[in-house]
Amino acid sequence: MSTGSLLAADLVIAVLAAAGWLGGGAASAARRRPLALGLAALALLATLARAITITALARAGWWFAAEKVLIAAPLSLAAVVVAGPRLLRAPGDIRSVAVPLLFAGYADSSALLVTVLHGYPASADAGLLAVAGVVGATAVSWRLLGAPPSRTVSRAALTVAVAALLAGTGLAAAPGAAPGVPHDHGPGDARTVGEPTRRVTLTAATATVRASGRDVAAWAFNGQVPGPELTATVGDVLEVRLRNRDIARGVTLHWHGYDVPNSQDGVPGVTQAAVLPGQEFVYRFRADQAGTYWYHTHAVSDVGVRMGLYGVLVVRPAPVAGIDVTVPVHTLAGIPLPATSTEPVAAGTPVRLRLINTDSTTHRYALAGTPFRVAAIDGSDLHGPTSLADTAVLIPAGGRYDLVFTAPATPVALFVDGRAVYSTGPVSKATGGWPVLDPLTYGAGSPVPWSRFDRKFTLVLDRGLDLHGLLPRYAHTVNGAADPDIPPQVVRLGDIVKFTIVNRSQAVHPWHLHGHHVLVLSRNGEPATGSPLWLDSFDVRPGDVWEVAFQADNPGMWANHCHNLKHADAGMTLHLMYLGQPNR
Ligand code: C2O
Ligand code: CU
Repeated sequence: MSTGSLLAADLVIAVLAAAGWLGGGAASAARRRPLALGLAALALLATLARAITITALARAGWWFAAEKVLIAAPLSLAAVVVAGPRLLRAPGDIRSVAVPLLFAGYADSSALLVTVLHGYPASADAGLLAVAGVVGATAVSWRLLGAPPSRTVSRAALTVAVAALLAGTGLAAAPGAAPGVPHDHGPGDARTVGEPTRRVTLTAATATVRASGRDVAAWAFNGQVPGPELTATVGDVLEVRLRNRDIARGVTLHWHGYDVPNSQDGVPGVTQAAVLPGQEFVYRFRADQAGTYWYHTHAVSDVGVRMGLYGVLVVRPAPVAGIDVTVPVHTLAGIPLPATSTEPVAAGTPVRLRLINTDSTTHRYALAGTPFRVAAIDGSDLHGPTSLADTAVLIPAGGRYDLVFTAPATPVALFVDGRAVYSTGPVSKATGGWPVLDPLTYGAGSPVPWSRFDRKFTLVLDRGLDLHGLLPRYAHTVNGAADPDIPPQVVRLGDIVKFTIVNRSQAVHPWHLHGHHVLVLSRNGEPATGSPLWLDSFDVRPGDVWEVAFQADNPGMWANHCHNLKHADAGMTLHLMYLGQPNR
């Protein structure tokens, strides 16, 4: 069983155990003896099963099991110890076991709340609050069911509950590390890159665009979704003038996957201020990396990108022969883009399809009718890519795959989630059952260039209650904290940095570090054996543990976040910060 399924199974079993005890308690209070005994038996079974899932999760990695071992297991044990013997004695008046059963239910419920609302890392405050909840709820039940314990016991319970509550709240309210993200550097000095050879103006504005024969209210660059395709040849100096006509919440341009100097990275509040209506900002950088990239606004990015503020950036090494098509996939107001295009291609023509996922969730791409190779991922060429046929690829949010093939005499079609998006003629082929390419084992391997790491960071991805500000929210968290409270990762120029990224949540998190490409070392303990994979966007699925590394060679303050932009906005954003380096 995968760790992801184990996490899900453990959650279901925990719910069953808590519900069994609580239901049993309620049934015995109502003197429904068979029901009470049945539910209590279910709870006992579930508790036994949980011993197995928790052990398995702990073996998969302490991150997955910490609070279950430290908080849930002791509470479940207390539940069994208190309720079990009383049930075995099978009392004549079933009502006398109501409170012990309810106690067991509260114990398992509060442990469940710790997992769902608090998660990783396990902490003393969460444990104390859980205990306070259990003791408090049991005392109330005692009262209501008219079987209050002796004075001494009640007093002791009250003291424990209050002490745990006070200690727990005190610990929870202790100030965390302030991230200290600088604001507003203003336009950085990018004048050193040389005279621009490509000048473009992108004007962001609300617009009505046509998609699939429908008029859709969008936010667009130069009135179109996607925005104009920006192309350059390696060595060009791009100058992009961003203007905002009427996007009230501001816009910026972020060059996704392009490792520009920090001042050009387009992250509001970090590398520049958002460009408000009537304002402009000029980006200038040299196109040193060839490959397939894209640009998008980074101001209220979840809404902004979804509404249409994105476009393609392609940098070619030199003029190329053959057909070179970009396929930026997006969902605009529920309509899948791009529309289907069909153009015949002469047999023997080299074709490159640049697939780009600009949505917040994974898409599945299947190229039918020809063998092909994956020439590049996230802008970096792969070593020794072998020929593939009848194989699908999964592209994470923000990711890019370049597929290349030589046009056969018969038609070829590219399907995205089953819909034909590009074709050279009619192709009817069921691609849904195709196996999916694992990029970690594709192409020719070569050894990792580093043998030691100067800095190691672990990012545990989860969900949790976040009390930042006045409104509590159910945030997407990293190491138990949500933006802006996640401490930055501090590195020095030249450091070799390793990230271990662990997903203990139930959602896929497409991870994206700005300003750098990371080399994949391993996934779930299996070393990457294929072509070196230099990625800027990769899906960390539930239960996954990824190890990636990079050299800190681009000073500045860089966003490091989930590219499911809803998650990023709901807390899953932190920053990589260079120490002792002026930002460029
Ligand atoms: Cu494509 Cu921080 O984003
Ligand atoms: Cu996410």
